[in-house]
Amino acid sequence: APDSDMQLIRMHEYLTDLYHHILMHTNEGQQALDYLTGRGFSADIIRKEKIGIAPDMRDFTKNALSEKGYSMELAYQAGLISRNEENFSYYDRFSGRIMIPIRNHQGYIVGYTARSLDGREPKYLNTPETPIFQKRQLLYNLSDARKDIRKQDEVILMEGHLDVVKVKMTNVQNIVGLMGTALSEENIRTLNRLASNITFMFDGDEAGQNAQMSLGEQLLKSGANVYVISIPKGQDPDEFIEKRGADTFESLVKNERKHYIHFKADQLLEESLNNDMAFSTNLNVLADHLKFVKDEVAREKLLQHISDIYKIDKRSMESKVPAAAGSSS
Ligand code: CTP
Ligand code: MN
Ligand code: MN
Ligand code: MN
Ligand code: MN
Repeated sequence: APDSDMQLIRMHEYLTDLYHHILMHTNEGQQALDYLTGRGFSADIIRKEKIGIAPDMRDFTKNALSEKGYSMELAYQAGLISRNEENFSYYDRFSGRIMIPIRNHQGYIVGYTARSLDGREPKYLNTPETPIFQKRQLLYNLSDARKDIRKQDEVILMEGHLDVVKVKMTNVQNIVGLMGTALSEENIRTLNRLASNITFMFDGDEAGQNAQMSLGEQLLKSGANVYVISIPKGQDPDEFIEKRGADTFESLVKNERKHYIHFKADQLLEESLNNDMAFSTNLNVLADHLKFVKDEVAREKLLQHISDIYKIDKRSMESKVPAAAGSSS
């Protein structure tokens, strides 16, 4: 990385240790520490992830960096302080928030997602785009998870940063978090290079299900084997672990995995049954998806499941599947 990038990274490494120290060892951090403990985050995981608290002051971070000899222009460029555009004065960006460090794929801290403690909006405030923090290039926790992902040839995708942190307290380690609601072309290339199997484990609410549905289609079309592990309605992975425990979570991950197309067929079934137009459209969509399933046995099984639940002939379903791109027809 260029020298200027390393300087921005060093500011993050310095502040991360400082915020973490305040969380763990000072009165100022007590409320935030109680909050995290109350949500089931252990001291071990807080230390491992170097989670911290940014004091609720206008100029704590600004002064800390300035005392270290960093210029305010540089701190602003790093997204660590904000600037008043009327009088060009600088002030802390993340005051009063729990600081969750975000590492790039090499393992350097390049930004934060910062959660409010007191209901202050927005709930999460992230580092803005900077020379070292470009969301399209980042997947949260990849530097830690890479080995496990490779070994298992599977990567599990989650929505929330704290979901990833909570899951890291279990034996499931091949997990990464999305940096928002989209997957960039770069993210998709990274995921495909890492593993042949990509599994979604998004929140069990409508937003999560919809995101999973559209991102899953993108990944399927990029050539990945895509699966879904469903979290019960109204919960996310973190809440599931709090309610049901790590063991139940581990067996969920071990035993429940639907192919993306199986998941989608199940989701679309209800609206298809009383709506003949939806029935046709949905079966065409599913047939189109099936051409991306390279494994013949997997495709057969999906064809079987779809024809069973939609009560149609398997061969007529099969005849709707377009020839795979590149193959002769
Ligand atoms: N998010 C965000 N800004 C918000 C709300 C959400 O950037 N105002 C992002 C965060 O990365 C968050 C993810 O979307 O982790 C999922 O949102 P949500 O499910 O609402 O948050 P949780 O991760 O469940 O957060 P918590 O458990 O702390 O409430
Ligand atoms: Mn959500
Ligand atoms: Mn949550
Ligand atoms: Mn959530
Ligand atoms: Mn089913």
